[in-house]
Amino acid sequence: MYSTVKVLHSYWAYLVFLILVLATLNAIVKTIGKKEYAARDFRVSLFTLIVSHIQLLIGIVLWVSADYFGGMSMKEVMGNAALRSNAVEHPIAMVLAVVFITIGYSKHKKKLTSGNKLKVIAIFYSIALLLVLAKIPWSTWF
Ligand code: HEM
Repeated sequence: MYSTVKVLHSYWAYLVFLILVLATLNAIVKTIGKKEYAARDFRVSLFTLIVSHIQLLIGIVLWVSADYFGGMSMKEVMGNAALRSNAVEHPIAMVLAVVFITIGYSKHKKKLTSGNKLKVIAIFYSIALLLVLAKIPWSTWF
């Protein structure tokens, strides 16, 4: 179970990473260029929301099946850098990233002008992207 979910989580991460980079750069470029908000912008923002929520669910199943706290105390896990990263830092950072994507998406829908819609996506998705960049376990992923 754990190894299958980990493979799924690892490959799905490529999709999350690519679509988040695309949605963020698209919103930043169109905000700076004062471009119109189009159906494509809505679709890429919504797709980012959907794939990141799926990754959140896969991540939770992976975290539970990894059973980090089964045989070890919190102190032991926090004292081990690799374990602390997988069991605590990465999940917290990724949950926060998905929260920023969710807030950004729902806020941008309420905005009335193209400029404001794109700016909200640019800001919230950028924060999410920084969190993902900071806490993806690059060494084990590549
Ligand atoms: C946007 C969301 C997320 C992305 C892009 C992401 C990405 C990744 C990547 C690339 C890895 C390394 C996989 C490998 O070594 O091949 C990983 C590992 C892991 N992720 Fe996530 N993750 C996300 C969300 C989460 C969440 C929400 C949780 C838990 C609540 C989680 C739990 C884990 C765990 C436990 C591992 C370590 C597995 C291991 O090496 O034992 N992830 N994640």
